[in-house]
Amino acid sequence: MDSRLSGRVCHRHCLSIFHHRPDARSVVRQGRVAGGEGGHAVYHQLAGGHVRPDGDWPVRLVQTRLWRRGGGEHARILVADANRDAGGIRHRLSDQLVAREIGPEGKDVTLTDRLALTVPIFQAPMAGVSTPALAAAVCEAGGLGALGLGSSNAETARTMIRETRERTTRPFNVNLFVHADPAEDWPRETAWLKALGHSFAEAGAEPPDALRTIYRSFAHDDAMLAMLLDEKPAVVSFHFGLPDAGRITALHEAGCLLLATATSPDEARAAERAGIDAIVAQGFEAGGHRGIFDPDGHDEQLGTLALTRLLASRCSVPVIAAGGIMDGAGIRAALDLGAIAAQLGTAFIACPESAADDGYRAALTGEAAEHTIMTRAISGRPARALANRFTRLGSSIDVPPPDYPRAYDAGKALNAAHKAKGEAGFGAQWAGQGAPLIRAMPASELMAQLRRELHDVR
Ligand SMILES: Cc1cc2nc3c(=O)[nH]c(=O)nc-3n(C[C@H](O)[C@H](O)[C@H](O)COP(=O)(O)O)c2cc1C
Repeated sequence: MDSRLSGRVCHRHCLSIFHHRPDARSVVRQGRVAGGEGGHAVYHQLAGGHVRPDGDWPVRLVQTRLWRRGGGEHARILVADANRDAGGIRHRLSDQLVAREIGPEGKDVTLTDRLALTVPIFQAPMAGVSTPALAAAVCEAGGLGALGLGSSNAETARTMIRETRERTTRPFNVNLFVHADPAEDWPRETAWLKALGHSFAEAGAEPPDALRTIYRSFAHDDAMLAMLLDEKPAVVSFHFGLPDAGRITALHEAGCLLLATATSPDEARAAERAGIDAIVAQGFEAGGHRGIFDPDGHDEQLGTLALTRLLASRCSVPVIAAGGIMDGAGIRAALDLGAIAAQLGTAFIACPESAADDGYRAALTGEAAEHTIMTRAISGRPARALANRFTRLGSSIDVPPPDYPRAYDAGKALNAAHKAKGEAGFGAQWAGQGAPLIRAMPASELMAQLRRELHDVR
């Protein structure tokens, strides 16, 4: 086999070299010697082997690793930014090493270290449910809090970011929806509204005359981009797809760390290719909207366990597991599968800091939590919710819902009509399959509890 080197630079501090010949070890030794001498030598020497340059920065070789995959032997080489402060090694080696930053004196500056997390817990961004108070409480407890801003305009999003900053100085995640533009399909929308008509009438209301595109995709939202470049949140995450290269570059240049949801290896590969820094592996158990890029395409419906393991072993960027994780044992399982952290959504909904209404809280903390269902009826995209009157209605309708988010316009109107009459069963009560394990307590107490549990199962 011909000797061939390829590689890429991640996070400006990790150089990943893939060596496609049987005697990869010789190259690693070569790298180690050159690296020992420090600085640009390693970079330039290896750059001769098709390494994509990522600026000119002083580096020092810290570790190398070899493994076999797909019949080939691969070498992964980690280099440190020679300008970083000293520290101690904390982490075990894994397939994700390439995504970890190694500082001088051998400090393994992983993504979680970079975010100064003291516990590997990400609070899921939850549009309409997460609040600045919730995000800040999670951050203050050592996790990564998040704001779900996919349903907000730039102005509201800025206000929420600033409110969060008033409560915490720690990094947090702001999340945006990157969905395709919906079709404005008049016949389909009319048929859908007709199908909901009886239920509107039951609440003494009329369905809307027409549907609106209630959320703007970040794919086109220049005001949102400008606001983000101005506010520079530590982390920006994407759901339903990926923004274009220009937006990714601009956010990277503003110093934002970028995350994206993936529900399959193909979506994860696309995120990696686009330069996303870490991937949220969202299993089919997960509450809320499924992050699948194409809701009309084939869905393998991979569960959190299989998806996390697949992505952790295949991706060169860190993976965060999401879906059905409710306690320390679940978080530990995610870490054991190779995730660097677990992202929990449902677990935080019953916290007093969330924006969930009383009906939602009552359903989540009662018998209704035992049954969740994946439905498109509420918003037009597949999402996991508690089985309620709306999901049952959705299952009984035999015409397809309008595209997301236009169907959600109808769904919100139907809920508002019923809620006004004291009926909570038409709410978008998103929840994951772990819902029966929910605990209603302040976020700081829940974080302390999760930390204890995680420690106990170590
Ligand atoms: C109420 C709710 C709202 C959600 N909203 C968002 C969102 O705005 N953006 C996003 O990326 N994910 C959203 N998700 C999905 C979460 O990011 C995550 O994948 C999910 O909560 C993990 O499953 P779990 O709920 O079982 O913990 C939401 C989940 C829930 C439960």
